[in-house]
Amino acid sequence: MSVILAVESSCDETSVSIVKNRNILSNVIASQIKLHEQYGGVVPELASRKHLEMVNPCIDKALVDSGLAWGDIDAIASTVTPGLVGSLIVGVTAAKTLALVHNKPFLGIHHLEGHIYASYLNDPDLEPPFLCLLVSGGHTSLIHVKGRGVYKNIGSTRDDAAGEAFDKVARLLNLPYPGGPVIDRLAKEGDRNAFKLPEGRVSLPNNQGFHPYDSSFSGLKTAMLRLITKLKEENGDNLPIADLCASFQYTVAKALTKRSIRGCLDLGLTKIAVGGGVAANSGLREYLTTEAQKQGIEVFFPPLSLCTDNAAMIACAGCDHFNHGVRSSLSLGVASRMNIEDVHKLYKE
Ligand code: KG4
Ligand code: ZN
Repeated sequence: MSVILAVESSCDETSVSIVKNRNILSNVIASQIKLHEQYGGVVPELASRKHLEMVNPCIDKALVDSGLAWGDIDAIASTVTPGLVGSLIVGVTAAKTLALVHNKPFLGIHHLEGHIYASYLNDPDLEPPFLCLLVSGGHTSLIHVKGRGVYKNIGSTRDDAAGEAFDKVARLLNLPYPGGPVIDRLAKEGDRNAFKLPEGRVSLPNNQGFHPYDSSFSGLKTAMLRLITKLKEENGDNLPIADLCASFQYTVAKALTKRSIRGCLDLGLTKIAVGGGVAANSGLREYLTTEAQKQGIEVFFPPLSLCTDNAAMIACAGCDHFNHGVRSSLSLGVASRMNIEDVHKLYKE
C-alpha cells in the first residue's frame, strides 16, 4: 500500500490529489471553465497563467483534506504528456520541486493512462485485460488494455475528437462552452430520431468497406451545419434545439458503441471501461450499456467527477507503477503528444 500525491495540469483543470492504491484520500480540482468560456475554447497562455496561480493552493488543500503530512507520502507524480506544453510545465515543475524538497521519488504519467485508471478508482476489482473507450476533448481512442502499462491502440478518430465535436456543434447552435454537458442536458428534452445524421464511418482503401474501429466526426459536424442552415432558412432562428441535440448525441453514441462492441468481441474481451469527459454523456452511458448487455459485455463508467480531468486518476496510475518499482528521472521533460503504447519511455531504465 503506498500513498501518492499527483498534480494534473495538462489542459484547463489544475488538480492535486492524494491516493492510496485505489482509494482517493483527497482530490482538489480548480476548473478554468469560467476563464475560457468567453473565448469558446481553451486559450493556452491564459491556462498556463491560471495553473501557476492555482497549483500551490491546490497542493496545500490536497494535503489538508487528506489529513496526512509530507512524511506519509511515498512519491510524487505528475502528468507529463499529452497536453498544452506551457500548462504541463507548471504542474511538472511543481511536482519535481516537491519530490526534490521532500526527498521523494518522481513519476511522470501519461494523461490517457490516467483516464484508464479512473475506472479502477470506481471499480477497485477491475483488472486487465479489457477494452478502454477513451473519449475526451482531445482524444477518441479504443485501447486494448493488456496489463499494467501495456497498451495497444486499435482505433482512433481521423479528425475531430468526440468531445471536440460536441463543443463545435454546440458553437453552431450558439450554446456555451464546453458544449458536451449543455448538449447532454438539452438532448433529454428532444427526440433522438428527429433527424437522421451520418455516423462518420471511415472507408478502407480499394473499396474494402469501412474501418471497423476508426471514427470520423467532421462529416457529422458538416451535416449538422447544413441541417441548421436549412432549418434557419425555412423557420428563421426558431430552431428545434432539443431535437437537434438529441439526434446529434444519439448519432455519436451509436458510432462509439458500435466500434467498442465490435472491438471487444473481435479481441475476445468481456469488459469495456469508458474514460474521458465524454464518458459523462448520459446518451452514451445508456446506449452503450444496453447494447453491450445484449452481447454479454460488462461496461464500466467512472462517476462524472472522475470522467473529466482530475489528479486522482494520475495518482492512481502513479501508485500502480510505483508499487511495481517504476520511477522517472527528474530530467524527464514534457511533451505535447505521445502514443500511449510508448508509456515505458517515461520510466527510468
Ligand atoms: O477529459 P476532459 O475533461 O478533457 C480532455 O482531456 O479533453 O474532456 C473534456 C470534454 C469536452 O469536450 C466536453 O465538452 C466533454 O468532455 N464533455 C461532455 C460531457 N461532459 C464533458 N461531452 C458530452 N456529454 C457530457 N455530459
Ligand atoms: Zn483528459
